[in-house]
Amino acid sequence: MPSVFTLLQQTLLCWAGHVIRMSVERLPRCILYGELQSGARSHGGQMKIFKDTLKASMKDFNFDLTLWEALAKNRSAWCGPVIKGVKTYEQQRLQQSSVYSKDQQHKTPWPTVTQLHVIQ
Ligand SMILES: *[C@@H]1O[C@H](CO)[C@@H](O)[C@H](O)[C@H]1NC(C)=O
Repeated sequence: MPSVFTLLQQTLLCWAGHVIRMSVERLPRCILYGELQSGARSHGGQMKIFKDTLKASMKDFNFDLTLWEALAKNRSAWCGPVIKGVKTYEQQRLQQSSVYSKDQQHKTPWPTVTQLHVIQ
């Protein structure tokens, strides 16, 4: 079973597809594409907005950022890549976590008994 984080990303992408298929007058779609008419963003790190999270999820799932809207307009064509992306991302995540845990087994944080004898 995928992690909670992966399931949240999957839900986010499915919902983004749903928003894309909405008519242009609908509020969620206006918010997705909306920009402020005035004001400037401050320098330095910005708070993440929905679009940023969406882009990050698409990168994790290996989606082409330029083609996703065309794909998402067709619901049945959108669901397949999302599910495939979830599987691929989850496999990569599990491989990375197993490599990480193997690394941790070789690094004991405390000196061994033989090392303590050398110090004395
Ligand atoms: C939507 O995608 C499905 C599956 O890829 C395809 O069979 C169908 O023809 C597409 N529909 C449209 C309207 O493009």
